[in-house]
Amino acid sequence: MQMLITNIKELLQVRENHVDKVSGAEMAVLPTIKNAFLLIKNDTIRAFGKMEDCPQYDGEIIDATGKMVLPSWCDSHTHIVYAGNREQEFVDRINGLTYEEIANRGGGILNSAKKLHETSEEEIFEQSKARLEEVMLLGTGAVEIKSGYGLSVEDELKMLRVIRKLKANYPMAIKATFLGAHAFPTEFKQNHKGYIDLIIDEMIPLVARENLAEYIDVFCETGYFSVAETERILEAGKQHGLIPKIHVNQFNAIGGIQAGIKYNALSVDHLEVMNPEDIEALKNTDTMPVALPSCSYFLSIPYTPARDMLNAGLPLALATDFNPGSTPSGNMNFVVATACIKMRLTPEEAINAATINGAYAMGLSQTHGSITVGKKANLIVTKQIPSFYQLPYAFGSNLIDSVILDGQIIG
Ligand code: NIG
Ligand code: FE
Repeated sequence: MQMLITNIKELLQVRENHVDKVSGAEMAVLPTIKNAFLLIKNDTIRAFGKMEDCPQYDGEIIDATGKMVLPSWCDSHTHIVYAGNREQEFVDRINGLTYEEIANRGGGILNSAKKLHETSEEEIFEQSKARLEEVMLLGTGAVEIKSGYGLSVEDELKMLRVIRKLKANYPMAIKATFLGAHAFPTEFKQNHKGYIDLIIDEMIPLVARENLAEYIDVFCETGYFSVAETERILEAGKQHGLIPKIHVNQFNAIGGIQAGIKYNALSVDHLEVMNPEDIEALKNTDTMPVALPSCSYFLSIPYTPARDMLNAGLPLALATDFNPGSTPSGNMNFVVATACIKMRLTPEEAINAATINGAYAMGLSQTHGSITVGKKANLIVTKQIPSFYQLPYAFGSNLIDSVILDGQIIG
């Protein structure tokens, strides 16, 4: 099966040679080819270049006159698998309660855990697949999904099995993360050690034995998991081959970034509150900082200080954090726009952060995140637009004409 896309107004994120990630000043450069072609064979990018070098071809042709083509978004941080919603908490926040106050009275993550417990695995799959299908049509071609609304052996495994079923049923790269350490269940509120022992002695070995996750996550935050508790859990995960990707510095900087680096985390995510020491600690490491601007938007909390981080030479990835409490949106187009509007990333920086660096943050930069021969043919074809600046500029418009995943047009 072959497909040729011709007359592409501008082909974005073209990388002739493999790059893992881009950092600091490199992020301002988005390599492109104007008036380009792209040839797909089966599920893979076979060739691309200037139209004048376009090969003779008599198979399926898509004429992309006036349109941009770019690699699909790589969303490296989501909680797409959940049951029900938290609309009432949203209204409670409008009426003056904070996210923290809602959590302290038994809402928040524990509210989602209760709903998940009461919902069958089949029903959770149905609800989650609707969200996955929605984000596919919004241009996401690779996604990481976390557990963390189970908070018991049985329910954490239930979530991870739903993720496994999504992996098996969709033409998307899906990475699974075990987030048993998302919150302390009510019965362990006064017995943190008891819950952490359960995570370490029962959950992690089962998750690893059944190969249900690649990554391990902890919500390292005041009122959730301390740095010492985080380290204990990451150590246990590491012994079972689970690579850390952790929630840190969302509300408080308590040293979680340093813990992530110590355990060689693939990514440290949120980072709304950053000290100069946190930025310093990330320099010259393999750990990708990940910002989640839709979460800042929805909760009205600070945005990750991206400019300071890029000026310090760090890389940055962007992800949605799609979840029922802090970010009920999986729209990477909105994330890219919000990063430009609120975090002062340039469009070039934001697109790099949402493609190649997002791929790195889920261990996929060999196969996803750029237009490179041999990578997956996961592509966004835009509507006719004046330039790619239109993508973040027209922030409320859907500018996607079609989406190609594994070489097939899916919408
Ligand atoms: O990434 N911060 C921790 N976890 C999620 C939100 C969890 C929830 O409110 O359901 C997040 O924002
Ligand atoms: Fe999250």
